[in-house]
Amino acid sequence: MPFRKRYLFVCTNRRPDGHPKGSCAEKGAEEIVVKLKEALLNRGVAKDIVRACASGCLDLCETGVTVLQEPEHVAYGGVKLDDVEAIADAAAAGGVVERLVVHGRQGPG
Ligand code: FES
Repeated sequence: MPFRKRYLFVCTNRRPDGHPKGSCAEKGAEEIVVKLKEALLNRGVAKDIVRACASGCLDLCETGVTVLQEPEHVAYGGVKLDDVEAIADAAAAGGVVERLVVHGRQGPG
């Protein structure tokens, strides 16, 4: 399989119910990663341009669901199912969804 130009790491970490930090899985991350893979397939970029992967905790739990895009090195926060198409469009084109960035280009770090 080819080494992709771009990777989207979707945190799907799940903590026990009631844990004070919460987790991306309890906010819907598992469905988001499935839909993101589908969106990339539909754009014809999944096999060689952009790979979406389930990830462990990215330690940005307070702003989850967290998606890390590399090599742009930006973290998206508060990602919802409704954001999946925009993320796929941007990643396929080599761009970033600025409104979702919580760390990186315009975020705190
Ligand atoms: S649980 Fe998703 S970033 Fe920590």
